[in-house]
Amino acid sequence: MAFDIDRFTANSTAVAWGDLDFGEFDRNPLPPESLRVLRYMCDVEYHTVCYLRDLLTTPSHREPEIGSFMTMWNREEFWHGEALAAVLGKHGISVDFDELKATRVKLGWKDRLDPIKQSLLGGLVGNDFVAVHMAWGAANEWSANAAYLRMARLEGHPVLAELLKRIAAQETKHVAFYATQARERLAKSKKAQVIARFALNKFWAPVGSGISSDEEVTHVMGHLFRGADGRKVIREIDSHIAKLPGMQGLTIVENALEKRGITTDAPSELHADMERVSV
Ligand SMILES: [Fe+2]
Ligand SMILES: [Fe+2]
Repeated sequence: MAFDIDRFTANSTAVAWGDLDFGEFDRNPLPPESLRVLRYMCDVEYHTVCYLRDLLTTPSHREPEIGSFMTMWNREEFWHGEALAAVLGKHGISVDFDELKATRVKLGWKDRLDPIKQSLLGGLVGNDFVAVHMAWGAANEWSANAAYLRMARLEGHPVLAELLKRIAAQETKHVAFYATQARERLAKSKKAQVIARFALNKFWAPVGSGISSDEEVTHVMGHLFRGADGRKVIREIDSHIAKLPGMQGLTIVENALEKRGITTDAPSELHADMERVSV
């Protein structure tokens, strides 16, 4: 299915949350481990502008349709960060953008696009480079979408769940753009397929790796995806990625979680709690 870029840019808007009763967070606050996950998500969203900055030095920005998408996409991701910061603010956690930058410097964060840029060193230009970038972006957006929906379901907080579902609905549009572009561009080039497969298999890591500490990444991934239901979700993400041309059989998300010791077979603590409540 074709992605209508004109419709996307015309309709792109901030995720709505002014109508939600944030007073519910005073009456029914979120637990610390969930706030930790939301803080991570907020950091990732606010980081998008740095990611965009790096993309402006690649062949992708020369493609008009991609330039239009990235502009609106960057705004939407920023607004996701703002909405999450408002939830955190209700719990006395203020997200300071300068503090975020300082943390990145401390972690030695340089460039999240390094793996993709390495494709350039391999002589990948034009359509082929963009194809790799689009496949990478599709994997990230599928993960983001799944993470928000999963968090909404696990937390079960009425206001948070509604907000996260609205954010996830915008992530679905991001998925549609990246995946459509990736599908079309990969189909045109075996070389792009080979490089995209190599880059994803060797370098892909959960969104937020390199921005947050290893400990935070493991906490968030474990919180969201541990347990049988979590495994089902990550396998769904992997199956979407594997359907892109030349990506058959890839299981990058499951591999990344296993590498972090998140055994997807173990029952999640959160689920155990939920089961106790429902008995
Ligand atoms: Fe987002
Ligand atoms: Fe997104």
